[in-house]
Amino acid sequence: MNLDELNKVACAMVAPGKGILAADESSGTIKKRFDAIGVESTEDSRRDYREMMFRTNEAMKNNISGVILYDETIWQKAKDGTPLVDIIKAAGAIPGIKVDEGTQALPNCPGELITVGLDKLAGRLTKYYEQGARFAKWRAVIDIADGIPSYACIHANAHALARYAALCQAAQIVPIVEPEVLMDGDHDIDRCLAVTTWVLKETFQELFTNRVSLEGMVLKPNMAIAGKKSKTQASVAEVAEKTVKMLKECVPAAVPGIAFLSGGQSDEDATAHLDAMNKIGGLPWGLTFSYGRALQAAPQKAWSGKAENVAAGQRAFAHRAKMNGLAALGQWKADLEKKAA
Ligand code: 13P
Repeated sequence: MNLDELNKVACAMVAPGKGILAADESSGTIKKRFDAIGVESTEDSRRDYREMMFRTNEAMKNNISGVILYDETIWQKAKDGTPLVDIIKAAGAIPGIKVDEGTQALPNCPGELITVGLDKLAGRLTKYYEQGARFAKWRAVIDIADGIPSYACIHANAHALARYAALCQAAQIVPIVEPEVLMDGDHDIDRCLAVTTWVLKETFQELFTNRVSLEGMVLKPNMAIAGKKSKTQASVAEVAEKTVKMLKECVPAAVPGIAFLSGGQSDEDATAHLDAMNKIGGLPWGLTFSYGRALQAAPQKAWSGKAENVAAGQRAFAHRAKMNGLAALGQWKADLEKKAA
């Protein structure tokens, strides 16, 4: 393992004013997104949609440090025959790959899930490296409800994340370590804060036990935020303050950067929260975005599967990328959204 190289890639992933485009929806998830805009999900339509984003030069050069790809996409070619990974690299961004194989029910833990995909991962990582991937993603899912999460679920998922991260570093690939505490429930921000703190503490303990080099990884957490169904939604300032305090307590300064998932927040909330945290400042790590929905909802709608809408889709993507790039610097303002509307 060359740790200097891993560290260089990790730092580039969280470079000032840049963040990660999570375009790694599984075939099932992208079908749901396409259903919502009335587009049939085929190999070609998925390629056309993703090619549209990867060819948005302004966004890719200025605000996107890396792209997380799904297995199908990393092998795909653009309409003109150029490999999609080459388009990403030509724009100065780093190709990455989602390597987990989804979730299964965790035995003895009703309602809880374990992420799978460790078997044969070493061999798959070698192939992905050859194909150009320099970082990977593995997502663990922790739900909050009555009586859950359990320690068994948190521990099993943290252990799998650490085993994955160690395998990635051995293959010279930077692991994005993503323990996602879902915001689907009716819990308030303090319950999310308590559970996320527990999950992060356990995750870093397992990373230590499995000898993962913190300098060569990126953390992808959720923010401390109330559940979507909660009657008491926290203000932007409260989300920012509580999330920053939590991360300072849980994430060692050796980690080069933290790139949040958006998790179902509205586009503007995801941007405003990130911006407010960076405005607090004085942070030991880079703090940026690794958004899926909060970067793609607008371009998906603008595109709606029509070739004549590609320019509109690219404008919508460039706008969200720029807004989040500013938020990563703590320089976003709400009127910038209105001006664009
Ligand atoms: P969202 O930003 O839509 O939560 O997706 C990010 C991601 O990569 C989840 O694994």
